[in-house]
Amino acid sequence: MTETRTVTAENRLRGEIVVPGDKSISHRSIMFGSLATGESVVHGFLQGEDNHATLNAFRSMGVQIENLPDGVLRIVGKGLHGLQEPGDVIDCGNSGTTMRLMTGLLSGQNFFSVLSGDQYLRKRPMKRVVGPLAGMGADIWGRDGGEKAPLAIRGCQLRGTAYSSPIASAQVKSALMLAGLYADASTTVLEPHLSRDHSERMLRYLGAELERFEGGVTIQPEPNLAGKEIHVPGDISSAAFFLVACLISPDAEVLIRNVGVNPTRSGIVDVLQEMGGDIELLNRRELSGEPVADLLVRSSRLRGIEIGGDVVPRAIDEFPVISVAAAFAEGTTTIRDAEELRVKETDRIAAMVSELRKLGAAIEARQDGMVIEGGETLQGAVVNSHGDHRIAMSLAVAALNAQGEVTIEDTGCTATSFPDFWELLQSIKE
Ligand code: S3P
Repeated sequence: MTETRTVTAENRLRGEIVVPGDKSISHRSIMFGSLATGESVVHGFLQGEDNHATLNAFRSMGVQIENLPDGVLRIVGKGLHGLQEPGDVIDCGNSGTTMRLMTGLLSGQNFFSVLSGDQYLRKRPMKRVVGPLAGMGADIWGRDGGEKAPLAIRGCQLRGTAYSSPIASAQVKSALMLAGLYADASTTVLEPHLSRDHSERMLRYLGAELERFEGGVTIQPEPNLAGKEIHVPGDISSAAFFLVACLISPDAEVLIRNVGVNPTRSGIVDVLQEMGGDIELLNRRELSGEPVADLLVRSSRLRGIEIGGDVVPRAIDEFPVISVAAAFAEGTTTIRDAEELRVKETDRIAAMVSELRKLGAAIEARQDGMVIEGGETLQGAVVNSHGDHRIAMSLAVAALNAQGEVTIEDTGCTATSFPDFWELLQSIKE
């Protein structure tokens, strides 16, 4: 039975919250902590289903990981060559990051492994990592000529490479960097726009040798990674739902503490500020090589804008909730250069267009984005998440300001990245 939630607008949003740990950084803390020597203690780890898929994968390869209360993990690193052959298929669940990064890592091991996942993940494109990894000598087989999982990987000695990626994807870049740790020479990845750089930051923090330059990164093989204390900041992609909820609600003011504001992720703040959103970044600091701040957000009159180019990869997971902000803004918002949205957990362009239309929004799909005419009053209706956590939470934000009751079907998926979303939303309703 899938879960259903009903959301009504009634209260002012006020208060102070902390959102759960960053999903991308949590994945990397397990992966890189396992490959380091010595112990890593991770604080603020996201206890979501996606990250548990990564945690279970590394346990199945013999890594000792203690999951302590309050989001603390203790990882006993095995070193670069200490992983063991898993005894079964590795289940990546719904997590594209787990599958793509591990494809890179497993390509360079001296054992055989198979990666699979849920019905959504098994439809997502994997050639984007399988292709360039094959260019390094990797031996990977998958359905549809290596495009779809399950993926079977026979680890072998890899060659260093220089790969120019046609898409700005941190998953592609990180998969190649992980493979590059095991290659016979350096590995260079070039990308058309800078994608999130958590791998670069954390690998360097743990002692990897890598050089960053305009348009790419070069990583040297066989580094001595040393386990460390890792602090995971709050996930800006989770904070985004609260930012938009407050901006479009009357008389709202919320402080979100301890949010990661890495410039490769903070496109959402730039977009919302350009729309006229009142968001202040307070108490800026750095935690384990990642910039962090507290975000103070207040109700605002938003206006439509044009969104495209460099900001797209910097806000790639936030377009569902940006489309909600646009529906409540005055004027037209045009989103371009965002074709990648079509291959996320679901086709996020098609999903937001179909669901926001049910609420009465004026929204149209383009191949690479959406056009939203803001200002229509949204009405109550029954909508569906398409099994995608970010669609479910974006619809909940829209529902807060709809006239009438909105019922959202299939909301259990929020557990992939934000298990206590509904409780946290309830907690700021005054
Ligand atoms: C992620 C990278 C992004 C993002 C995903 C997480 C990561 O995907 O959409 O949610 O942790 O590296 P792409 O690499 O496909 O752009």
